[in-house]
Amino acid sequence: MMVEQERECHKNYRAKARVHANVAVAKYWGKRDESLNLPLFDSVAFNVDGLITETQAHWHNDDTRDALIINGWQVPAQSMGRVERILDKIRDIKGWDKRCTLQSRNNFPLASGLASSASGSAAAAAAAAAAAGLELRESELSALARLGSGSAARSIPGGWTRWRTGHLDDGSDSFAESFAPADYWNLHVFVIQVTDSQKSVSSSECMNMCMRSPFWNVFVEESKKEADLLQQAVVQRDFASFSAGVHRNMMRLHALTMTCERPVLYFAPKSVEIIQKVLRATQAVPVCCTVDAGSNVIVICEDSACPFIKNDIIALGLPFIQTHVGNGAQIV
Ligand code: DP6
Repeated sequence: MMVEQERECHKNYRAKARVHANVAVAKYWGKRDESLNLPLFDSVAFNVDGLITETQAHWHNDDTRDALIINGWQVPAQSMGRVERILDKIRDIKGWDKRCTLQSRNNFPLASGLASSASGSAAAAAAAAAAAGLELRESELSALARLGSGSAARSIPGGWTRWRTGHLDDGSDSFAESFAPADYWNLHVFVIQVTDSQKSVSSSECMNMCMRSPFWNVFVEESKKEADLLQQAVVQRDFASFSAGVHRNMMRLHALTMTCERPVLYFAPKSVEIIQKVLRATQAVPVCCTVDAGSNVIVICEDSACPFIKNDIIALGLPFIQTHVGNGAQIV
């Protein structure tokens, strides 16, 4: 204990993490445990190199409460619940009562369907754990990030990741692992910003509403098959199967949200325009697209589809980021 205390005294309890947002191709939608964000089925995603969250954590004894500042804006106390779950877990492990200040910056709009909650929670978990001097395994850090936002579990490992449902009630076996590194498959990723406004219904709220859809059970049964199929398509670099799976998975989720008692339509007119162009092209060129719970569109393609992207998608004049599959969380 003395040694531990001495070691602690030499630290300044600060660390900074850099994390990428991730985009799911076999999407997470529905929880078996809401407070632990435990999913009903496995999901598959890739990190997006060009979508970055950097978070600085500092543990201290100065204040009575934790603070989260995102792009210079202090998050109100009543909206701190998700990040508190991560910080409380660290306090539990450390057996201390310090408070944490998190300063976070994104290079992309928040809550607009670009997985900012994923990279935000993953960066908070990575920075706060490092600042506390915790040496966690990647799987433990992924499970910690999951407490803030389910999809955050997938922003900890690099490249292509699979988040396993797990079976344990405490969620310790529900974490994401990488199954292929970032440079495994030479794909281009275009993030097309259809809107920078925040989505009207949060993912967790919409998931809950969807559970009362008459199509919920069939959605879950079908979704359980997807992670295997999409993982296999990536491992085999089989663009035709990949593209078919990505479209099927996206459409099934958005079709479901439209069947809630209070229907949710995340697509904006421009999202539909892009999706239609991609669906029409997909027989001839290796391109596909996906949309999370928002309206921005992620277009994924092989080299030979770049002229199509330039002439048909970029020509729409919307802001975009051209990027590729990215690495996992880093302490910087
Ligand atoms: C459509 O991870 O934001 O992006 O666990 O409630 O925070 P919570 O939900 P969240 O849901 C993401 C939903 C999705 C699909 C996905 O990323 O797999």
